[in-house]
Amino acid sequence: MGSAHDSVGGAAGRIPASGAADRIPAAMPVATAEDMRALGQRIAAALRAGDLIVLTGPLGAGKTTLVQGIGQGLDVRGPVTSPTFVIARVHPPLSGGPGLVHVDAYRLGSVAEVDDLDLDASLEDCVTVVEWGEGLVEELAADRLEITITMPGAGQPGEMRRVTVAGIGERWASAADPRVVPYP
Ligand SMILES: Nc1ncnc2c1ncn2[C@@H]1O[C@H](COP(=O)(O)OP(=O)(O)OP(=O)(O)O)[C@@H](O)[C@H]1O
Ligand SMILES: [Mg+2]
Repeated sequence: MGSAHDSVGGAAGRIPASGAADRIPAAMPVATAEDMRALGQRIAAALRAGDLIVLTGPLGAGKTTLVQGIGQGLDVRGPVTSPTFVIARVHPPLSGGPGLVHVDAYRLGSVAEVDDLDLDASLEDCVTVVEWGEGLVEELAADRLEITITMPGAGQPGEMRRVTVAGIGERWASAADPRVVPYP
């Protein structure tokens, strides 16, 4: 039982680095934190200034870990860490692309409030990633990339996560970027 499960979480769950597989699947297993960062880098390649990503998942699911990969992919100033004592952190670009605004929505009532934060950056010039705890789903923006992380093996040995990616709204309609699967 253990070894069969491990094979799913091992090589089979690895994210291919390039090629046709650059299309990000709608749902995938992610075996390790390192793979989660690699997935973030791949997602970053599909992002542009003004994009909003809403990251949902339970405590310790790997949301910040995914944002670290997105930050690497966008080539922004790090480090990307859990914004525990601040609601949002701005990571300026290092090489001319969009910056990264990393928001912990734990204390926000809705994504709409991100606009009201007095950030030292314009959201139109940045990719905004909001870490959203489970159960906080009201008032989401019309265009968003919704990424959900679950922990199917919680309570068992292993680090497997399951990630689903859905592009919602005009921005992510299939023609806009074939690398991201539109919703549903
Ligand atoms: N497959 C995996 N994907 C992502 N993280 C993993 C995985 N396996 C183990 N981990 C570990 O799980 C932890 C995830 O922590 P992280 O801070 O990214 O979660 P989070 O969802 O942001 O938590 P919080 O709800 O507190 O914001 C890290 O220590 C990471 O190394
Ligand atoms: Mg976090």
